[in-house]
Amino acid sequence: MRGLLEQTAEQAIRYLEDLGARGVAPTEGAIASLDAFDQPLPEEPADPEAVLRLLDEIGSPATMAMAGPRFFGFVIGGALPVALAANWLATAWDQNSAFYTVTPATAALEQIALRWLVDLLRLPPSCGGAFVTGATMANFTALAAARHTLLARAGWNVEADGLFGAPPITVVAGSEAHPTLFKALGLLGLGRNRVVRLPVDEHGRLRPDTLPDLTGPAIVCLQAGNINTGAFDPFVEVCARAHDAGAWVHVDGAFGLWAAAARSRAFLTAGMTYADSWATDAHKWLNVPYDSGLAFVRDAAALRAAMAVTAEYLPTVSDQRNPSDYTPELSRRARGVEVWAALRSLGRAGLADLIERTCRHARRFAEGLAAAGYQVLNDVVLNQVLVSFGDAETTNRVIAAIQADGTCWCGGTIWQGQTAMRISVSSWATTEEDVERSLAVMLRIAARYSNPA
Ligand SMILES: Cc1ncc(COP(=O)(O)O)c(C=O)c1O
Repeated sequence: MRGLLEQTAEQAIRYLEDLGARGVAPTEGAIASLDAFDQPLPEEPADPEAVLRLLDEIGSPATMAMAGPRFFGFVIGGALPVALAANWLATAWDQNSAFYTVTPATAALEQIALRWLVDLLRLPPSCGGAFVTGATMANFTALAAARHTLLARAGWNVEADGLFGAPPITVVAGSEAHPTLFKALGLLGLGRNRVVRLPVDEHGRLRPDTLPDLTGPAIVCLQAGNINTGAFDPFVEVCARAHDAGAWVHVDGAFGLWAAAARSRAFLTAGMTYADSWATDAHKWLNVPYDSGLAFVRDAAALRAAMAVTAEYLPTVSDQRNPSDYTPELSRRARGVEVWAALRSLGRAGLADLIERTCRHARRFAEGLAAAGYQVLNDVVLNQVLVSFGDAETTNRVIAAIQADGTCWCGGTIWQGQTAMRISVSSWATTEEDVERSLAVMLRIAARYSNPA
């Protein structure tokens, strides 16, 4: 065992050390080599060290360097070394972290990490929280608590009786809500197509003047951090009007929620604390390894009512928080361990610096691109930059050439009808030098295809 684990740790460390020097995207040759995995199911056991060597030799080169310093696609954090190491240790512990009495170490770490997070993210101290796979499931989990509460108020037990015959729930969201929010609503039986989609402004923010009069059970879904622009919905006004109508307000803050932890960005989250539930990702801006999402619900009892499971053989009675009382899963890995380690290591100041630093990098990209005459389409309030290199065809050609160059990796999008390249700076590992190096490549490639204004 020792030899195998030491060999694997060595391979993982070498992989990470080499990441900055290799192309960000895997080469075609590396992808073609994946065929080597495609063998018949072995009839006989194989040497574990040889299995791991195969994984490293064939698998590692065919990965996207998402853990490296110059991956700017989607919204992808790297993994802080302390969080990765904690993840290794917790994986060795192999705790099925459902119940406090059975797995006290991991249950306690989750409980403490949640308390710290509520503080850092400026959420109400009464909040219940859940560690889940990502923001999709965090939205699902928080919205299940919303569904529970609204229908209980209407005299309906949705967990026991389902939705057939239940009073209808009106769901409202901005038309720029993330697609996974609609998926979560669909999973909850609230219907993707039943959602009232409200118009947004040029930044992607829900327009509060379009909020309909709400009667009966209703959920208003707001967003902290638009996937393209990084914009925040107007929480103060919408929360006040929604609450006057007795509605539940949910905030999808997959990455934007973390702005609350940074002094210079916290103004964006003004009024966010008035909501009833929140979803975010730790695998994005907190930079813990995949997968790691978080749901928070102001009324912890509502979350528990929606999620808890009881059975004779399960040790559900406990003075302490049982993690699985708050999550869709019963058996679950201990995601709280690496979150705790990241927060314990960063502290309040380190987390604020991580958020502020990556936002600064995003602004530098925007300034450099704008100075060269390219159109930056968004107000760079957070860590997201949208840049157009001309018409759709030109912009797409520039994106493809940047991806092929390998120095960095950015994806494309269509923002309010205009094709753009997205730059999302979310990794702890990105340095000023990485930004300058990537910017130089972007400008060199863009100059080949387009004439800036
Ligand atoms: C605003 C928003 N909501 C939800 C999601 C989905 O998150 P996950 O992929 O962690 O489920 C994302 C992903 O980028 C997002 O930006």
